[in-house]
Amino acid sequence: MTRGAFIAFEGMDGSGKSTVMEKTMFELSGNGYSIRWTAEPTHQGTGKHIRDRLNAKWPPKGTMSDLAAAAVYTRLFFADRIEHNALDIQPNLSKRINIFTDRSYGSTVAYQSAQGYPIEKLAGEVEWLVGKSMIERPDLMVVLDVSVPTALARLAKTGKKPDKFEDPEFLPKLHEAYGNLPKYLPNDRIEFVDAERPLKEVVVDVCSRIRPLLVKKAA
Ligand SMILES: Nc1ncnc2c1ncn2[C@@H]1O[C@H](COP(=O)(O)OP(=O)(O)OP(=O)(O)O)[C@@H](O)[C@H]1O
Ligand SMILES: [Mg+2]
Repeated sequence: MTRGAFIAFEGMDGSGKSTVMEKTMFELSGNGYSIRWTAEPTHQGTGKHIRDRLNAKWPPKGTMSDLAAAAVYTRLFFADRIEHNALDIQPNLSKRINIFTDRSYGSTVAYQSAQGYPIEKLAGEVEWLVGKSMIERPDLMVVLDVSVPTALARLAKTGKKPDKFEDPEFLPKLHEAYGNLPKYLPNDRIEFVDAERPLKEVVVDVCSRIRPLLVKKAA
């Protein structure tokens, strides 16, 4: 039986993921299509633990190297993803519910490699976990592509307190890492969308890419 479609929204902080995802869901829901919103890190268990650490800017300064911290986060992110897959993604996909996720392993590969964690190791872990059916490969990874100045300007507009990664020195590394995703995840369908354009145009573009992949609930 066909499962629902699994779509991942990716991109730097401030690229517009949450906004575009919400509007795309609004446009595409109904007409027999059921779409479920989800996000990583999740809001329960390990995911909540990750969010608490990020908000606290863990680790405390001087306690460990950046690489050691990236190694800790990498393991937490994969643990959260495995739980998310078993408890939420698989049960819903099997009911022919389409799932949109605000970030998935594209973020782990991009963010952790931008901090110096070897990208080949991350990509290898993704392939191993996908091969063992512990995480799900998205049918489409939409990367909302914006320049660093645009991301910073949009973040400033939100008035949110900048987190650990919303940093003018880190974001160029992250932008480059996102650009490298197709090279390191060759089995993934990754599409870059120019998200510098007005929101309406971005949403029309994203909808046209996702619409053909959606699955209707069985009659
Ligand atoms: N195409 C666009 N043009 C102008 N503003 C936009 C566009 N897309 C999003 N924005 C605005 O940019 C800001 C950041 O968007 P949003 O919160 O959706 O980004 P995000 O990628 O989810 O960020 P984060 O990773 O921090 O959650 C919001 O104020 C949003 O309204
Ligand atoms: Mg968001």
